[in-house]
Amino acid sequence: MKFKPRARLLLQLGDQLIKNESIALVELVKNSYDADANHVDVYMENVDDPHNGVIIIEDDGFGMDATTVEDVWMEPGSDFKTEKFIKREVSPKFERLPIGEKGIGRFGVHKLGNQIEMTTKKKEQKKFM
Ligand SMILES: Nc1ncnc2c1ncn2[C@@H]1O[C@H](COP(=O)(O)OP(=O)(O)OP(=O)(O)O)[C@@H](O)[C@H]1O
Ligand SMILES: [Mg+2]
Repeated sequence: MKFKPRARLLLQLGDQLIKNESIALVELVKNSYDADANHVDVYMENVDDPHNGVIIIEDDGFGMDATTVEDVWMEPGSDFKTEKFIKREVSPKFERLPIGEKGIGRFGVHKLGNQIEMTTKKKEQKKFM
């Protein structure tokens, strides 16, 4: 028999495993570090207003192609980075060992907002996903 996790379980995971809003934000910046980013811009507007607040976290790292989105981003608990760490596989540009390991950090975004949008592309791709 297979487990049938509901999508809302992911929100609960994020909510319970990521302690607070600051840690949720740091999780996203850690992902930018792992993605070889030079810069991470964190933009906040009206964050005290639950209806009109906006937080944008944007990095210039290596991004994701469709396969990574499907096989890693869409797979809660993916061990993508743990495998790299075990093999001592470093990032292509800054030769960073990944700091991510559990494959859940991104679910912290649900602590930061009710409506989430993720946009990404690899450098060589023309269109954003
Ligand atoms: N800013 C980003 N740029 C490129 N890929 C990203 C970015 N953020 C997330 N990803 C991809 O999504 C995956 C899931 O991110 P998530 O933070 O949930 O897990 P993780 O970093 O692997 O482990 P941890 O739970 O310890 O943070 C990452 O392994 C990475 O492949
Ligand atoms: Mg992470």
